[in-house]
Amino acid sequence: MNIVITGASKGIGRAVAAAFAAEGHRLFLCARTEAHLNETASDLTRRYASAEVLVMKADLSDKASVLDFAEWCLQHGVPDIIVNNAGLFKPGSVHNEPDGLLEEQLSVNLFSAYHLTRALLPSMMKRKSGHIFNLCSIASVAAYANGGAYSISKFAMYGFSKNLREEMKPFGIKVTSVLPGAVMTDSWGDFDNTDQRIMEAEDIAKMIVAAASLSPAACVEEILIRPQLGDL
Ligand SMILES: NC(=O)c1ccc[n+]([C@@H]2O[C@H](COP(=O)([O-])OP(=O)(O)OC[C@H]3O[C@@H](n4cnc5c(N)ncnc54)[C@H](OP(=O)(O)O)[C@@H]3O)[C@@H](O)[C@H]2O)c1
Repeated sequence: MNIVITGASKGIGRAVAAAFAAEGHRLFLCARTEAHLNETASDLTRRYASAEVLVMKADLSDKASVLDFAEWCLQHGVPDIIVNNAGLFKPGSVHNEPDGLLEEQLSVNLFSAYHLTRALLPSMMKRKSGHIFNLCSIASVAAYANGGAYSISKFAMYGFSKNLREEMKPFGIKVTSVLPGAVMTDSWGDFDNTDQRIMEAEDIAKMIVAAASLSPAACVEEILIRPQLGDL
């Protein structure tokens, strides 16, 4: 299968890439930092010889770059799966966060998924199959005082995902909203997770791969997953 994953050089995106690589698929990965992308590709092809890993440097906060990445993917074939994962987490509160934080986070957390999906969808709709995963968050459904622009962007991403699910029903294209609680990635900086208080990126990857494995008759609409002890 052709699998497009954004923000795949680290964290959840990389874990999802590894889980699909283990099944021997052809992956199309992007992120902004070329060195991390190349290291990811080398690591995955070394561990999973049957996988093909293609990478392209792209800053998805820029619409033109999103469309270039989409075009590059389409040159290689019609996507079977899209994982809209690239995201930026900057905590803040509406009343005092810096000016521009909403625009910055909307550009990566929402607009990139919207533009990429719109560019790739026509080929998938013509073929009448495919599966789109949208990385939302617990912050898409639960407001909190320090949520600010991030939470707003994730509520919007969830709205995008739910609308797309309804639209794509007659086209045989599945849409899954993924709503994780805290996951141990770079977003959490030097958080000490030795007691496994928060989840691992591999937990999310396993759920996505499982949802992708069901028959055409079944669509997992939401994957809502929290740390065992609940939110922090
Ligand atoms: N970790 C959590 O607790 C958590 C919980 C709920 C939801 N999520 C969501 O899950 C997704 C992944 O989060 P994560 O924690 O795994 O993030 P992460 O570890 O910070 O990794 C983010 C990935 O996206 C790439 N990226 C960031 N900005 C980009 C841009 N403008 N264009 C292209 N690629 C970009 C990064 O590479 P470069 O920096 O090189 O571009 C990296 O590969 C996000 O949408 C996040 O909101 C995370």
